[in-house]
Amino acid sequence: MKYIEIGKKLTGVSQLALGCMRMRRYSLEEVTRVLSSAQDIGINFFDHADVYGHGESEVRFAQGIRAANISRDKILIQSKCGIQRGNGDYYFDFSKDHILQAVEGSLKRLETDYLDVLLLHRPDALVEPEEVAEAFEQLYREGKVLNFGVSNHNTNQIELLQKFCQQPLVINQLEFGPAHTPMLDAGLNVNAQNERGIVRDGGVLDYCRLHEITVQPWSPFQVDLVEGLFMTHPKYQELTATITRLAEEYHVPFEALVIAWIIRHPANMQPIIGSMNPKRIEAMAAAFDIELSRQEWYQVYKSAGNPLP
Ligand SMILES: NC(=O)c1ccc[n+]([C@@H]2O[C@H](COP(=O)([O-])OP(=O)(O)OC[C@H]3O[C@@H](n4cnc5c(N)ncnc54)[C@H](OP(=O)(O)O)[C@@H]3O)[C@@H](O)[C@H]2O)c1
Repeated sequence: MKYIEIGKKLTGVSQLALGCMRMRRYSLEEVTRVLSSAQDIGINFFDHADVYGHGESEVRFAQGIRAANISRDKILIQSKCGIQRGNGDYYFDFSKDHILQAVEGSLKRLETDYLDVLLLHRPDALVEPEEVAEAFEQLYREGKVLNFGVSNHNTNQIELLQKFCQQPLVINQLEFGPAHTPMLDAGLNVNAQNERGIVRDGGVLDYCRLHEITVQPWSPFQVDLVEGLFMTHPKYQELTATITRLAEEYHVPFEALVIAWIIRHPANMQPIIGSMNPKRIEAMAAAFDIELSRQEWYQVYKSAGNPLP
């Protein structure tokens, strides 16, 4: 495992993080095994959201941490808020009241007094940054949240929030993996008259590097949450074959090669993996033993159907 710094205050953070979105579906025994495997390979950072499993994923995690005998001060817990759910409907809500209420709920379910990080889950078109700033200040003053960030935000949305928030925004969690690369495509097709040249995120990857905001790639093995895993997707057979070949050449498992490809990018990203299979989680640790060459990195990128200009 490699350990990274996030912002000025979070040190010794495992570069691989475990996402707990799917945790509710698993028994306490299974979750305890998952958490023990994560601990064995040095993962100390866990990603949640109040909405995962309608809050039940946070509950199961807290039970698992107790059962696995993992002490709170040895781990870093991140949760997210800003999605209102209920009665089969959902919408986004960055109001002060909602942020404060959501954090109280997460703290209770996670059986902890504080979150190491709180992220705003998805941009709220009705955001009033002054209210977000007030909520963040209060949570920080009360010791309930130590660090703040966002998820799925573009550059101007971050600027708008940061203009009002005294607390630095140190993380942006974004969908990214070998089969999901809009964050790279526009930068590689500057001024080109093709689909890939369209800047959809304000150049968020470069922006995050410029402002020392850690990018957390979510769903690294998926095309997206609708299309599912790239390894079983007919459009990504060539990508799967390239990764399989490189994994064999480096004598590492397939899963490790995927993570190695992400962390080869110099932005020092922190992938959020979602596997609840202890063997797969353990397999990913080998990512830190290898380093892909530039040529190999581009081979993976191109084999996902991304020609270079
Ligand atoms: N900010 C956001 O908007 C947002 C959105 C979605 C997710 N997230 C975060 O990102 C985390 C990861 O998302 P994700 O679960 O979609 O990520 P993922 O790591 O891309 O996918 C994990 C899923 O793929 C399955 N899988 C099957 N074969 C696999 C293989 N060979 N290697 C790895 N996984 C394989 C896993 O099953 P097994 O359990 O059987 O291995 C698991 O169900 C979530 O837990 C959440 O914390 C954030």
